[in-house]
Amino acid sequence: MSDTNIIASAAATVAAVTDFLPLEGTDYVEFYVGNAKQAAHFYKTAFGFQSLAYAGPETGVKEKASYVLRQNELTFVFTTPIKNCPEIEAHLALHGDGVRMLALRVQDAADAWEQTTRRGGKSYMKPLKMEDAQGAVIMSGIHTYGDTIHLFIERKNYSGVFLPGYQKWESAYNPLPAGLLYVDHCVGNVGWNQMNKWVRFYEGVMGFRNILSFDDTDISTEYSALMSKVMSNGNGFVKFPINEPAEGKKKSQVEEYLEFYKGEGVQHVALATHNIIETVSILRSRGVEFLKIPASYYDSVLERVGAIDEDLLPLKELGILIDRDEEGYLLQIFSKPVEDRPTLFFEIIQRKGAKSFGKGNFKALFEALEREQEARGNL
Ligand code: FE2
Repeated sequence: MSDTNIIASAAATVAAVTDFLPLEGTDYVEFYVGNAKQAAHFYKTAFGFQSLAYAGPETGVKEKASYVLRQNELTFVFTTPIKNCPEIEAHLALHGDGVRMLALRVQDAADAWEQTTRRGGKSYMKPLKMEDAQGAVIMSGIHTYGDTIHLFIERKNYSGVFLPGYQKWESAYNPLPAGLLYVDHCVGNVGWNQMNKWVRFYEGVMGFRNILSFDDTDISTEYSALMSKVMSNGNGFVKFPINEPAEGKKKSQVEEYLEFYKGEGVQHVALATHNIIETVSILRSRGVEFLKIPASYYDSVLERVGAIDEDLLPLKELGILIDRDEEGYLLQIFSKPVEDRPTLFFEIIQRKGAKSFGKGNFKALFEALEREQEARGNL
């Protein structure tokens, strides 16, 4: 290859890997809920979050109240309407409690908005500069599936506790953390035949890549099925699997979600831990309910995944699932829905090298989900 060709080839490589939407990770997840004061208490008590910040009537915000909780790199915001707040009231009336904002951290929120809306993203919020004595945050946003929003948060010039408008929330009640670290991935459920539309959205508008695909032969039990594609941003810090229902003998779990959420939305948020046995023991002792896995799963699991560092007994007692890929293994467990509607739930995940999502557990997991669906009369 000539020098010119080498340079041209290197330039092409650089162009191919240039990320037009560099994301630094998940900044926060905001939930619209019917009673934010009580939801915040639940997430502190059950999941080990700490009080961080508050905005509401006492801080000059008349129409809504927001409680901000933190645990390591995880930030959750619980927002409820108080008066004359039609956007949140409508979201709540339709969906019940659920995720509204998946906020992503960027270096330049104006550029993130430009890049994504230029490629067809529907604007939710033009770049907005918010300031207080601690500096400035620039925020912008676009719509994604259902009523879900991606906000872009630029906070490099801000040293305040959360965002301008929020005050530090000092609480006398500070339960111990549970070892939850950061958002590993966040899964969206979309309607029949809509998965590829949203795959194209994440590719075209946000510059993500499809890193894994599962079809109904991977993810089906005797009764129900779904299909899934995992979308990842350039540096892999942000991963969004997208599920759609597939035809089975009975109703898909994704269909149940769509029926009760009344539309597309966030199905589960996966939270990382460095010690899943300790984390799940804490969560369970504080009342978090997890899907039950039959004891027979553990009879043959080590034949499938090979040797692991952990003792099998505590994994079996807690119902933690194990899977392996070419790069290592992972441990995971799924909560029951955290609302009365069978909608949002959480996954707790510990990765020991594996970068995948537990394909080897799908059958056991979905059979467990179907038992719950059946108990609700929705299978
Ligand atoms: Fe997951």
